[in-house]
This record gives sequence, C-alpha cells and structure tokens, in this order.
Amino acid sequence: MEERLQKILSQAGVASRREAEGIILEGRVAVNGEVVSELGRKADPEADSITVDGKKLNLGEKRVYVLLYKPVGYVTTMKDPQGRPVVSDLLKSVPARVYPVGRLDYNTEGLLLLTNDGALAHALMHPSHEIDKGYLVRVGGHVSESQIQRLSEGVRLEDGLTAPAVVTRVRESAQNSWISITIHEGRYRQVRRMCEAVGLQVVRLKRSRYDFLEIGELKPGEYRLLSAEEVRRLKGDAAKGPSSGGAPHRPRPERLKAPFRGRKNPA
Ligand code: URA
Repeated sequence: MEERLQKILSQAGVASRREAEGIILEGRVAVNGEVVSELGRKADPEADSITVDGKKLNLGEKRVYVLLYKPVGYVTTMKDPQGRPVVSDLLKSVPARVYPVGRLDYNTEGLLLLTNDGALAHALMHPSHEIDKGYLVRVGGHVSESQIQRLSEGVRLEDGLTAPAVVTRVRESAQNSWISITIHEGRYRQVRRMCEAVGLQVVRLKRSRYDFLEIGELKPGEYRLLSAEEVRRLKGDAAKGPSSGGAPHRPRPERLKAPFRGRKNPA
C-alpha cells in the first residue's frame, strides 16, 4: 500500500515525521533510484526500494537499542554538513541503522540512546512523558545556595520558565564546583542556559542518566546494547503519562559516584 514518504521514514525509525520532511527536502531520499526532494510523494514500502543517504531502508529490520557514551567533539546526527565527527562513526559494528533519541550538544558528553525503533524514540522524546535526564555539571567557582534554589525552582529562559529540577551539590575545589541537575524537559541547550541564567559558567557537562539507565562503567566512545528487560522497562515508562493527580513532576535525584570518569585532570 502506498503511503507518504515521511510516514514511511518515521515508521522505519529514521526520524520523526517533521524531521523526515527535512531529510526529503534535503534531497537525501530516493525511490527506486530517483531522488525525491519535494513533499507529498508516496511510495509502497513493500514494492519500492527506498534509500536514505544511499542506504536502503529495511522495514522489517530487527529492533536494536544502543546506549552510547558520547564523547565531547561529536555531533548527535548521522551526517554533519560541516564534516565534524558524528555519533554513527562510533557505531560501525552495530548491525542496523540506528538514530539518536534526542540530542546532546557537540561539547556535551555522556549517555545517548540510539535505536531503529521509531515508535519508542518518539514516545521517549514526547514532552508529556517527562522522562528524567540526569546531568553532572562542572562550573567555574563557587555555587551559592540561592543559585541552587533558583535552578531547582525554575529559571526564566527566552523560551519560558523551566520546570522544577532536582539540583544537588556534588563536590567543590578551589576553582570549580560540581553539581547534579536532573530535569525532564529537553529544550535546546537547556542545562547550559539554566546555569548561565543564574550566573554560572559551565566548564563541563555530562549526561549520566536517562530514565533508569546509567552510563555505568562505559568510557567515552564505548557503547553497549540494552537488555530485553531494559527495553521492556523503557517501553513501560514511555507509555506512562506525566505524574498523575496534576502535581508537578519532580525528577528523581541523581545517584552519585565519581562526578566524571574517563578524562584526566578533573579540576
Ligand atoms: N543541556 C544542555 O545544555 N546540553 C545538552 O547537550 C543537554 C542538555
């Protein structure tokens, strides 16, 4: 049966429907060898050969779920127009084309999920599901009680007030402080902008937790596949709505071990 190309791409886990439209407009999609760069085109996923960036979509592909420690200096996309390293470079031995669930900035490191399960990825990213994301942040200087309180209660950013966060101190040295921030929103550069808004300069930012998943012993650039039980739990959490009863969702605080691993000279 023929369906719109953006729907086929999103069902194959390539991207959300809106992102798929962008991919089509960029001329990265071909149907039976012919590049399609306008919207509205339909194809039959069973009869037609559909490619993205020259690679054939496999709609019957086995679902794969990857937990990667994204290093600093990698872009969370599959292709970068500026030619910078992309996270897929780190996943050469993964037997499927997987896509990032959300994004981490070029200069942010830590836990990044990737999958070819488009439905789960979209559910996890949907703001109504309020999936917790835990970050360890190294900032310059001392962090005051009022800064912690402002970050916890919500900070006014250009795109509105941030939801309550769980913010705790981790460690302090003569030059730097480490704090943990757990949020469930996923706005662009949110943690950096929250810190800047209260006068803190972010020196290093690492996502250490995504929902119940932790970075664990992985080192930058390393990854592992999720277990069937982890996938089952993630699907359960992605299917839940926001906290019931209308009370604002308070993220679960970070469980802390060493604030940053895998890089020497943490000071
Ligand atoms: N917040 C940020 O500022 N950057 C990220 O990469 C993730 C969260």
